[in-house]
Amino acid sequence: MMEMTVRTSAPYSIYIARGCMDEVGARGAALFPKAKKALVVTDSHVGPLYAHRVMDSLKKAGIEAVNFQFPAGEASKRLAVIEKIYTVMAEKQFSRTDFLVALGGGVTGDMTGFAAATYLRGMGFIQIPTSLLAQVDSSVGGKTGVDLPEGKNLVGAFHQPRLVLIDPDTLSTLPPHYFADGMGEVIKYGCIRSAALFESLQKSRLTPEHPDLERVIYECVDIKRIVVEHDEHDTGERMILNFGHTLGHAIEKLHHFEGISHGEAVGIGMILVTEAAERQGLTPGGTAARIRDLLTLYGLPTEDTSVPMADMIAATAVDKKSMGGALNLVILSALGHAIVHPVPRAQVAAFLGEEKR
Ligand SMILES: NC(=O)c1ccc[n+]([C@@H]2O[C@H](COP(=O)([O-])OP(=O)(O)OC[C@H]3O[C@@H](n4cnc5c(N)ncnc54)[C@H](O)[C@@H]3O)[C@@H](O)[C@H]2O)c1
Repeated sequence: MMEMTVRTSAPYSIYIARGCMDEVGARGAALFPKAKKALVVTDSHVGPLYAHRVMDSLKKAGIEAVNFQFPAGEASKRLAVIEKIYTVMAEKQFSRTDFLVALGGGVTGDMTGFAAATYLRGMGFIQIPTSLLAQVDSSVGGKTGVDLPEGKNLVGAFHQPRLVLIDPDTLSTLPPHYFADGMGEVIKYGCIRSAALFESLQKSRLTPEHPDLERVIYECVDIKRIVVEHDEHDTGERMILNFGHTLGHAIEKLHHFEGISHGEAVGIGMILVTEAAERQGLTPGGTAARIRDLLTLYGLPTEDTSVPMADMIAATAVDKKSMGGALNLVILSALGHAIVHPVPRAQVAAFLGEEKR
């Protein structure tokens, strides 16, 4: 069992161990001593696989477990589904001393966290992330929310979980496409903070059965923990977690969020921004090639010839990382060391090499 504590405004523990989801009852009862009920939120893929284990564990600890299941997929991440969660909790007379459990990928975690942040002006919740992306990224850090038709994650709240239980065994049922998608974020952590992690991913191909899986998840979460502790509300250092994301988001948007996954788009974004930084002499030559090789090893694409750079640059105009007339690009001063590099708006096209594509 690996364990760490995230020292945010409300500190919480993260446990990483195969099979640890069965401990949710005992740990939940200890954390929420007055709780009588828990709402287990899950989706239509994860629920049939794992909800019974979580419900049984809660029941054994003397907590009434109520299950709420929604259709799997990003299309469910909206206020209408949140309203259904509120309705179930109101009908079952949940009180503020009860709690919620997010059992699933990033969609489930973001929605459960948002429902917890807002119902009765704030309730506690536990994250049991079941996708690789959720285990290494979205379950930690307290960003919760939903999409609007006008854009992703436009409504939300910072609300830290009270506990995160990462059970790597769940990845054995995750479709390979989503495992590869999560590897995009794992590779990102190596790029921004740990050349050793990057190299270990190169030496031996990580799979759900790999003996190093827990260690790799631990290292990724630990990097996120440190960054989040320094910048809980995303006003500075947390920006480095967005390496590859500025152009990645632009690519996703230009594809209307269809046909290309988040991890795939971020991988291409990491290469494009690193190639540009290499041309300016800001990143050592050969870094983009190393990232490309690693993405290829994990079955992730390394280019998107269907989208012109000029369109990508235009799509970054409303980027959240665009502040004070400059676009804050995250670049690597070396593999394992990310820095924020503000580029004046007027120079973004030249920096990214608009004429190169
Ligand atoms: N809060 C944050 O800091 C943060 C960070 C990154 C991404 N996100 C959000 O996370 C979401 C993407 O997360 P995701 O990729 O996990 O999406 P997801 O929750 O839709 O999960 C991906 C797919 O895998 C299935 N699945 C998950 N775990 C499974 C398992 N163990 N076995 C079988 N199937 C399983 C799901 O049902 C779904 O079909 C996006 O909405 C994104 O905005 C949030």
